[in-house]
Amino acid sequence: MKKHIVLLPGDGIGQEVITSAQEVLNAVAEEFDHSFTFDTKDIGGSAVDLHGTPLPQDTVDACKNADAVLLGAVGGPKWDQLPSHLRPEKGLLGIRKELDLFANLRPIKGFPKLLHASPLKEHVVKGSDLLIVRELTGGLYFGTPSERRDNGHSVVDTLAYTRTEIERIVDKAFQCAQLRRKQLTSVDKANVLESSKLWREIVDEKSSQYPDVTVEHQLVDSAAMKLITNPTAFDVIVTENMFGDILSDEASVLTGSLGMLPSASLRSDNFGLYEPVHGSAPDIAGLGLANPLAMILSAALMLRYSFQLEDEAKLIEDAVQSVLDDGYHTSDLQLEGGQKLGTKEMTVQIVEYIKSQS
Ligand code: NAI
Ligand code: MG
Repeated sequence: MKKHIVLLPGDGIGQEVITSAQEVLNAVAEEFDHSFTFDTKDIGGSAVDLHGTPLPQDTVDACKNADAVLLGAVGGPKWDQLPSHLRPEKGLLGIRKELDLFANLRPIKGFPKLLHASPLKEHVVKGSDLLIVRELTGGLYFGTPSERRDNGHSVVDTLAYTRTEIERIVDKAFQCAQLRRKQLTSVDKANVLESSKLWREIVDEKSSQYPDVTVEHQLVDSAAMKLITNPTAFDVIVTENMFGDILSDEASVLTGSLGMLPSASLRSDNFGLYEPVHGSAPDIAGLGLANPLAMILSAALMLRYSFQLEDEAKLIEDAVQSVLDDGYHTSDLQLEGGQKLGTKEMTVQIVEYIKSQS
């Protein structure tokens, strides 16, 4: 398979971990006889320094012509004082919008070696492996009107969705469930919100198209509770923008480390942008200490969701699990014993595992 991938390293440790992902993808290409070509483009603070804008047109064009995009992270204290149109995160929001990405996927998996690092009890997080599918372009964050009224004595925000917007995210979630344990939990507030009632209707309508997937509905407040008391009860969760924002941050504590969390942002044709959940980590940037696993796991998601290369994706995920099981870790993971590695050494371990499997 031939694929062209645009790399957007961005700022801080983004630059370091993107190299790791590229090396891992090269190893996978070699093992499976694929051809992955790469183009590196600027985004975020480093793009401001070089081009005077956090999102150069050249970057947008390259992404639109690629098969998928990998992004490191943007931002850092160097650019904190810039006016809002030049802020690094404008680059990130801009590229997501330009590419029309509406489905945000956040898989959360409790790796056996890292269970003790979770603030939750080990027996609770053990075996948790879930995927949150969050609607990214509608809902409360984008509805109009959103304004102060009556000289500041009242205020309004709007939670608006079209049927089409709900249908496309629900379809995406059903398709994700089909690739996993075939269990979909739709999270809403249908006892109160009209938007949630339509959401629920659409999920029920759609379920007949995916007879192999089991569907349940949960109210967001009890889902929030269940997520930390019984996380293994979930496979795929689909929900609107704000609920998804909150639940995905809540669920991220299951794994115990930001350095382990990948994400994907997709549109209907499966084109996607893949990035770690963490930021540019200015405190450790340039030191070669960054944990590359979230970025590497994001590359695995790209293989699965954009290229339908399930075996290849699984091999990367197995490599991560196996390397951790062998006691290797990075400084952020707080593992006792074993061997602490830097970014490059951890990447080598993953690549070695991939090569050893042929
Ligand atoms: P952060 O995720 O960059 O760092 C939080 C803490 O986790 C730091 O102590 C950092 O060293 C550590 N950390 C994060 N990723 C790590 C990794 N892969 N390996 C080892 N340690 C890791 O969040 P923070 O400090 O709030 O933000 C720093 C900058 O990143 C800010 O400019 C912020 O705007 C930006 N940011 C960018 C995001 C993006 O590009 N998607 C997301 C979040 C923050
Ligand atoms: Mg958030």
